[in-house]
Amino acid sequence: MRSNRDHNGVGITGTGFYVPPFVLTNFDLPEALETSDEWIRQRTGIRQRYIADESTNTSELAAIAATKALKQARLSPKEVDLIIVATSTPDNAFPSTAALVQQKLACHAAAFDLSAACSGFVYALSVGSQLIRSGAYKTVLVIGADVFSKILNWNDRNTAVLFGDGAGAVVLQSLPGSFPCYSLLGADGSGSELLKSPVTGPVTMNGREVFKFGVRIFEALLRKVLDDLSLSIDDIALIIPHQANIRMIEKAAESANISLDKVFVNVEKYGNTSAASIPIALAEAIEQNRARSGDIVVLIGFGAGLTWGVQVIQVA
Ligand SMILES: CC(C)(COP(=O)(O)OP(=O)(O)OC[C@H]1O[C@@H](n2cnc3c(N)ncnc32)[C@H](O)[C@@H]1OP(=O)(O)O)[C@@H](O)C(=O)NCCC(=O)NCCS
Repeated sequence: MRSNRDHNGVGITGTGFYVPPFVLTNFDLPEALETSDEWIRQRTGIRQRYIADESTNTSELAAIAATKALKQARLSPKEVDLIIVATSTPDNAFPSTAALVQQKLACHAAAFDLSAACSGFVYALSVGSQLIRSGAYKTVLVIGADVFSKILNWNDRNTAVLFGDGAGAVVLQSLPGSFPCYSLLGADGSGSELLKSPVTGPVTMNGREVFKFGVRIFEALLRKVLDDLSLSIDDIALIIPHQANIRMIEKAAESANISLDKVFVNVEKYGNTSAASIPIALAEAIEQNRARSGDIVVLIGFGAGLTWGVQVIQVA
């Protein structure tokens, strides 16, 4: 692994996440949905999700998560050069949610949004890392934040039970000598009808096809990472996949022949928070010591587009 060391390495020096205070358990779902706690838990692993109130938008959640990440990195907002917000539920068509976060943090960073649905955070991390490697920026805030509760049809049990609101953020900084920031991104627009939300919503989905895609892409991306970096699964401390469905994660782990112990799962608490799911999981994994300093962690995102992405990081 030593030969892989990178003079232009990029490190994650802070993580943070935030979910709104209101918890909606499976038992609290509207009766009209004709669903049950038992069905949802068995088919998805989800027990509850957090829902933003009417006046809380993506930028509010994102700014709180970002403030926590900056605190952990011991940086002031003024030291941030660039803010990237991955979201499919921006506060407005424009200005960008990232610009609103910049205003809330009272800093002068450049700011833009990136849209790649549930793969958005991995896409944004890849872009942020490459911009640091190129020398263009020194300190980049990468945030994944979504409020799917605002674009769901609360009468559609196929989708309403799956999603929750939240935000996760990381601080990226140049860290010479760290592990190379390997990433691989992909998209297949021919699958655009499988999971979709017009600008005003609601979300529609072909659950079975999306399920099969998620399992297939998890395994393919993991194999590619191990091959490209000449790593064995034992070199990887933790895999953090997009948190969509526990059955999907279990099936993918089984197909890839890896123990579930290697895979971080928190979907039971948050549901699918789209672009926020991986950074929330990463922040929790670090908090719980499942990912420690020096550990190699593989982040695997997949979602609407269809899109997918993998990013290998080393915990700073
Ligand atoms: C959505 C998902 C949980 C459905 O599970 P499934 O085992 O494929 O279930 P099916 O779609 O085959 O539906 C089986 C039955 O349950 C019913 N059903 C669907 N949602 C239900 C719910 N919330 N509660 C109760 N019954 C439900 C269906 O209507 C169907 O009934 P029928 O047999 O009478 O027609 C599953 O396909 C899935 O998780 N897909 C991936 C979704 C996802 O993660 N999307 C985001 C990716 S980024």
